Amino acid sequence: MIKKGIILAGGTGSRMSPLTKSVNKQLLPLYDKPLIFYPLSVLMLAGIRNILIIVNKGQLAQFKKILPEKNNLGIKIQYKEQLKPNGLPEAFIIGEKFIDKDNVALILGDNFFYGQSLTKTLKKSVSIKNGAKVFLHPVKNPNLYGVASINKKNKVIKIVEKPKKEFSNLAVTGLYFFDNKVVKFSKTLKPSKRKELEIVDLLNKYKRAKKLKAEFIGRGGTWLDTGNIKDYYDASNYISVIENRQGLKIACIEEIAFKNKWINNNNIKEAIKFYGNCEYSSYLKKLV
Ligand code: G1P
Repeated sequence: MIKKGIILAGGTGSRMSPLTKSVNKQLLPLYDKPLIFYPLSVLMLAGIRNILIIVNKGQLAQFKKILPEKNNLGIKIQYKEQLKPNGLPEAFIIGEKFIDKDNVALILGDNFFYGQSLTKTLKKSVSIKNGAKVFLHPVKNPNLYGVASINKKNKVIKIVEKPKKEFSNLAVTGLYFFDNKVVKFSKTLKPSKRKELEIVDLLNKYKRAKKLKAEFIGRGGTWLDTGNIKDYYDASNYISVIENRQGLKIACIEEIAFKNKWINNNNIKEAIKFYGNCEYSSYLKKLV
């Protein structure tokens, strides 16, 4: 059972400058909450309570204001800094001590997942004992992402970062589950042409060992990334449409913790005090 998760919230957010000049992208609002709430909620829905958030150098204080290391979500949050955006697999080198002898999940700080059976699929994924698992989802422009093709048993047979020639419409989303070998494998990677360690190079190591499986959130599930301004506002609108229609919030981290029985009524009341008089607090009030 995977009990540890890393959120990689580094990066300079250069594609969203000037918005990201003084604020980390993951702290910008995605509709009614900071972007970081969404990947955090995915790990929480997977039942993961031990979380390492990797942030850019110099931005730790910003994060701790909204997600203190000791918080009232019934989970444990720790932080580490990434000095430079050296690529996704660096998360496992920075997180070596945190991972220790365990298996680990990784989610990118700017990825958004939503769907009916998401929690069930996540719970299934945390049960991997060895090898690695990637979440794939169809996209119209696969050349913008890592792309994979699979066989009938959902084993990945080919995986390429931003392929020039299209061979599959299945993008590799920013949600991964790894066994403990991930630390050792990450240390052997060499930087690519864009001078970064590449997640696809890491995944290829598992693929060569026939240990890379694919998982799906299904056609009715949604995966959005918030890489540029347009994607960001599209994702915001999507959340606004659903929340305002249903009156249910996506990625309300206190609600998830409460439903998981990790926190109680008093913790919710503390959260309401913390957030102050706002719509988010009104929603929390309805829980207790
Ligand atoms: C990164 C990964 C890519 C993956 C994508 C998902 O891309 O390298 O494989 O499909 O995240 O968001 P980047 O954001 O570095 O372009």
